[in-house]
Amino acid sequence: MSAQPEDLAEARALLASARALLGELVEEGLTTYEPAAHPPLAEPMTPATPALERPTRPVASPTTPTPSGSPPATESIQQPPEAPAWGPEPTLEAVREALGDCRRCQLCAGRQKIVFGDGNPDADLLFVGEAPGENEDRQGLPFVGRAGELLTQMIEKGIGLARSDVYICNIVKCRPPGNRNPLPPEVSACRSFLDGQIDAVRPKVIVTLGRPAASLLLGRDVAITRTRGIWQEYRGIPLMPTLHPAYVLRQYTAETRRNVWEDLKAALARVHEG
Ligand code: URA
Repeated sequence: MSAQPEDLAEARALLASARALLGELVEEGLTTYEPAAHPPLAEPMTPATPALERPTRPVASPTTPTPSGSPPATESIQQPPEAPAWGPEPTLEAVREALGDCRRCQLCAGRQKIVFGDGNPDADLLFVGEAPGENEDRQGLPFVGRAGELLTQMIEKGIGLARSDVYICNIVKCRPPGNRNPLPPEVSACRSFLDGQIDAVRPKVIVTLGRPAASLLLGRDVAITRTRGIWQEYRGIPLMPTLHPAYVLRQYTAETRRNVWEDLKAALARVHEG
C-alpha cells in the first residue's frame, strides 16, 4: 500500500513537532535518552507539558462551548480563510466573531471550549503563549493553571500590573490532545486570528512566552534560552521573548526566575518609553 500525500504531510508535521520538543528538551539540559524496551504501539502520547492543577477564575471573555464527543468528519473541517474577515483596525469582538465555532483544523474535535484570549482590549502589553491546556480548555480562559498562576504572579508581583491590565492569548485557541505541541497545520489555521488580536489590541510591546511563540512571530526557529531578553520586532511592534512559565516551573531556579523578571521589567520600561 503506498503512502497518501495527506499521510506524508501528517508524518512531516509530527516530525517537525517532535524536533521542536527535542530542541526544548536539549535546551533544558537533556543529554541522554533511554527509550522503553518495547513500547506498545497504542500507548498514548506523553504530554509535552505536564497537566497542571489550576485555580478557578471568573469567565470574562467570550467563549464557545463545543461538543467534546466524536471527532467531526474530515469534510466538516473548514479551510482557513484566504483573507481575514475584518478590516485593518478590527475589534477583538470582530475577530472573535469571525473565529466562530471554529472547525478549521482537527483540534476542534477534542476541545471543550475555545480559548480566545483574556484581558484588557487596550493593553499596552500583550502576552502570547503556546496552546491551552486541560484547565484552560475547561474554563475557556488562557493561563489559568499552575503555569498561569506563575504568569499572574510575574505580572502582578514582578512588575506591579494587574493581570486584567494586560492581554493574554495563545498561538492556537484549542487544546491539542494530551497537551502535545500544536502541529504546523493547526498553527497556520489559527495564525490570522492571532494577528487579528494583535491588530485589535495594538499593544506597545509583545511578550512571547517560550520557544514556539517566539519562533512563530520571528519566523525562524529560535533557541529561547539564547534569544530571551533580546529585543526583537513583530510588524513594527517591539517584541520581548521570554521563557514560558511552565519551563520556569520545571527549572525553578533563582536564575530562571530572575531572567524572566528582567525581561518583564525591560518590557514595562519600553511601554513607559512610548
Ligand atoms: N500554556 C500556554 O502556553 N497557554 C496556556 O493558556 C496555558 C498553558
